[in-house]
Amino acid sequence: MTTASHPVETSYWVIVPAAGTGKRMGADKPKQYLSLAGKPLIQHTLENILGWPGLTGIVVAIAADDQEFSTLVAARDPRVHTVTGGTERADSVLAALDYLSELATPETSVLVHDAARPLVHKSDIESLVVASPTALLAQPASDTVKQSREESGKPVVRQTLPRQQIWLAQTPQKAPLQMLREALQAGLAQNPQAITDEASALELAGYAPELVPACRSNFKVTHPADLVLAEVLLQHRQTLEQLQSGTEQ
Ligand code: CTP
Ligand code: MG
Repeated sequence: MTTASHPVETSYWVIVPAAGTGKRMGADKPKQYLSLAGKPLIQHTLENILGWPGLTGIVVAIAADDQEFSTLVAARDPRVHTVTGGTERADSVLAALDYLSELATPETSVLVHDAARPLVHKSDIESLVVASPTALLAQPASDTVKQSREESGKPVVRQTLPRQQIWLAQTPQKAPLQMLREALQAGLAQNPQAITDEASALELAGYAPELVPACRSNFKVTHPADLVLAEVLLQHRQTLEQLQSGTEQ
């Protein structure tokens, strides 16, 4: 039976991996520092996170040669900490978890969120925070899903997969600090190629994270075309916020 006598524990830390080079974007600097709707992409992401209810602090993993992070407005917020990231995304997340384990208890809830996802909705964060201790935002597949095989050097359909069971993993992904740290350490030692997100490390360790449905706007800015879409959506959001606060000129 559910009762109101156990208030939901809603305080958490956020880890933001931001040490990538953005190869697929092909720009002259890492994609997190490209300007979108008037500010660097990562500034939008950090501003968004700083407004999430229950946030204790943020650990951002940045590249060893990063020259730009310290110039951001968000870098001046005392809740924002930095660590040096690693070769792969999982190495960057692990470096942040190692740092955080000096500041927070092993049970502390941690949300890992890509710097390249500036458009996650606050309502989805609220759903994630009250979900199971291990959980991730994900988008239920909306297209029919085909599995392929190769024939004469071309991909052909092997079979159609039941769409109801297909989800596209997004971030944030949530887990208790020490559980995630151990799962990533073990996963990286066992099969580093398989560890493409936090949930894959947790799965390998025998956990079954809850899938929390999220908005389509929470896409990861990856290719040049994503920049155009993100810019339009960010401008639209800024206009809506100005209208809501009555500050539109
Ligand atoms: N990331 C990281 N450390 C790495 C690689 C990636 O912290 N060694 C971060 C990126 O900065 C990004 C997030 O992980 O915020 C998701 O990774 P992705 O979208 O793949 O970014 P990049 O690796 O920078 O892009 P690409 O794969 O196209 O090079
Ligand atoms: Mg990458």
